[in-house]
Amino acid sequence: MTISVQHLNFFYGSSQALFDINLSAEDGDTVVLLGPSGAGKSTLIRTLNLLEVPTSGRLNIANNQFDLSQKSDPKQILQLRKNVGMVFQQYNLWPHFTVLENLIEAPMKILGLTQVEAKQQAMELLSRLRLEEHAERFPLQLSGGQQQRVAIARALMMKPQVLLFDEPTAALDPEITAQIVSIIQELQQTGITQVIVTHEVNVARKVATKVVYMERGHIVEMGDASCFENPQTEQFKHYLSH
Ligand SMILES: Nc1ncnc2c1ncn2[C@@H]1O[C@H](COP(=O)(O)OP(=O)(O)OP(=O)(O)O)[C@@H](O)[C@H]1O
Ligand SMILES: [Mg+2]
Repeated sequence: MTISVQHLNFFYGSSQALFDINLSAEDGDTVVLLGPSGAGKSTLIRTLNLLEVPTSGRLNIANNQFDLSQKSDPKQILQLRKNVGMVFQQYNLWPHFTVLENLIEAPMKILGLTQVEAKQQAMELLSRLRLEEHAERFPLQLSGGQQQRVAIARALMMKPQVLLFDEPTAALDPEITAQIVSIIQELQQTGITQVIVTHEVNVARKVATKVVYMERGHIVEMGDASCFENPQTEQFKHYLSH
């Protein structure tokens, strides 16, 4: 099991945002998180690498185990972040670094790669994502879709076992969305486990091996991709009908 979440509860101050969340995923799974705005999708995905720290529950992800009712060891959190990459909607590239510099920074600092090694791996990845001609550009000199692919490449440089995406195709046109979908499908073949928040049911249908549907901080429905054809709850059925 690559991901196992048990009885997870999360609060923003005194307001509870996640209620008794339980879910699991295996190597190669692509878990899609769906639900209306404010359901808690971003909060949940951020708890998976402890960007948000729950008050209780158990998290086991990429062989890192946490009892969340106890204070987590910062060293263990660092180890978790090495194994679990995240791609945000807003790309979050370093604007004063070129594409290549964005890719090699963390592997050199955190994994201890030499500059030569890091550059070689970066160029391989950039060519796989058809971005090699942009290596020396700065993020603001790229389109949104190109920046998103660079953000994915940067996360992949760390060779994560789990990759988290929060709305990776929001604000992208259909052609670029299709490119991101095919990158996700390619990554599925490598055995990496992916968790993807999206509002786009079409994207979800193309990549999901598991579906999690949330409302108001609760998981309402969870199942395999057949949920799209046979939703088990009225709420998910209603959501899909839009
Ligand atoms: N930093 C914060 N402080 C307090 N409350 C927050 C914070 N971030 C989110 N919330 C609240 O937590 C709930 C879940 O928010 P979250 O961002 O996880 O929803 P979401 O499903 O990702 O929505 P969207 O589809 O709009 O991105 C919402 O009620 C939101 O208002
Ligand atoms: Mg969100």
